[in-house]
Amino acid sequence: MPHADIEDEYGSSLREYAAGGGEPALGRAYELGRRALIEERSLVELASLHHRTVLGLIRQAGSGKDREELIRLSGEFLAECLSSYEMAHRGFQDAVKALRQLNETLEEEIKRIAYAVHDEAGQLLVAVHLALAEVALEMSEPQQAQFTRVKEMLNEVEKHLRRYSHELRPTILDDLGWVPAIRFLADGVSKRANLPIHIDAAVFERLPSTIETTLYRIVQEALTNAVKHAKASNVWIHAWRENLVLCCSVRDDGAGFTIHQDKNPPLRKGLGLVAMRERVSAIGGTLQIQSRPDHGTELSIRIPLEDEHTNSHPARR
Ligand SMILES: Nc1ncnc2c1ncn2[C@@H]1O[C@H](COP(=O)(O)OP(=O)(O)OP(=O)(O)O)[C@@H](O)[C@H]1O
Ligand SMILES: [Mg+2]
Repeated sequence: MPHADIEDEYGSSLREYAAGGGEPALGRAYELGRRALIEERSLVELASLHHRTVLGLIRQAGSGKDREELIRLSGEFLAECLSSYEMAHRGFQDAVKALRQLNETLEEEIKRIAYAVHDEAGQLLVAVHLALAEVALEMSEPQQAQFTRVKEMLNEVEKHLRRYSHELRPTILDDLGWVPAIRFLADGVSKRANLPIHIDAAVFERLPSTIETTLYRIVQEALTNAVKHAKASNVWIHAWRENLVLCCSVRDDGAGFTIHQDKNPPLRKGLGLVAMRERVSAIGGTLQIQSRPDHGTELSIRIPLEDEHTNSHPARR
């Protein structure tokens, strides 16, 4: 619908309601609000349309009493018109709340798996070690030499399992904060993938645990993508504060990819970037992705902080 239509219709419907149009005219206010929402008109646009219309009607109104009545009815009309926005806003708040709860559940599940890998798999390996030691007692010397190799491999398995379980849900994240946790993660990824990861973090205070977990998960996925897709030579992680906004960027100099700006991008199988966006929006932040084939990828995250977090106790670096 062209812009003029909604403007004209708003004027005529409000005029009709002010002239005693009652419920049918009020119904039109509701429909107009829905249309404005579908047409993605902002609240500011709608308020200014209302203001212009009321101004026009007031100029035509007679006595002061008529004007007073006109303003009262215009208020009712506007409230009805805005009810769609109100419902959409509530729906959005509910969705964010559900998303936050979902992430918390997910985080609990990750914790459970991390502990299971660490404790249960760790215990099983100890049992395997003991059983093997018993078998080894009855072995000849050449067999024992071969056997030592098996033990070394088992030790490697144990080391890797421990490392993965810690990266899955590092205890440092809770104990020391997200910056040390990211350093720990980057160190592991860097060694495994032979990829230099440069960290420059100028954030020294602890943040609420949901924010710290979100940041950790995003950097974790960004590093996985940098290794898996980008085949990057370097990754830079940068974190800093701009007053009450926490900023973090993860940049790689790898293969890059084409970002689809249209509303219906081609179907992707991956969940990583989608999950990142959802995690960030669940805590009121934003995520921007910049990438071009052969020009690397940069993720920029901005998370609003509450005043009280500016003076919290410092985190270890
Ligand atoms: N750093 C990057 N460099 C190059 N391409 C990337 C990078 N990050 C993402 N991509 C591209 O974007 C796609 C979507 O990434 P996303 O993380 O959402 O999914 P995925 O990694 O393919 O799968 P999943 O994360 O679910 O295991 C990738 O398949 C890849 O083509
Ligand atoms: Mg991914």
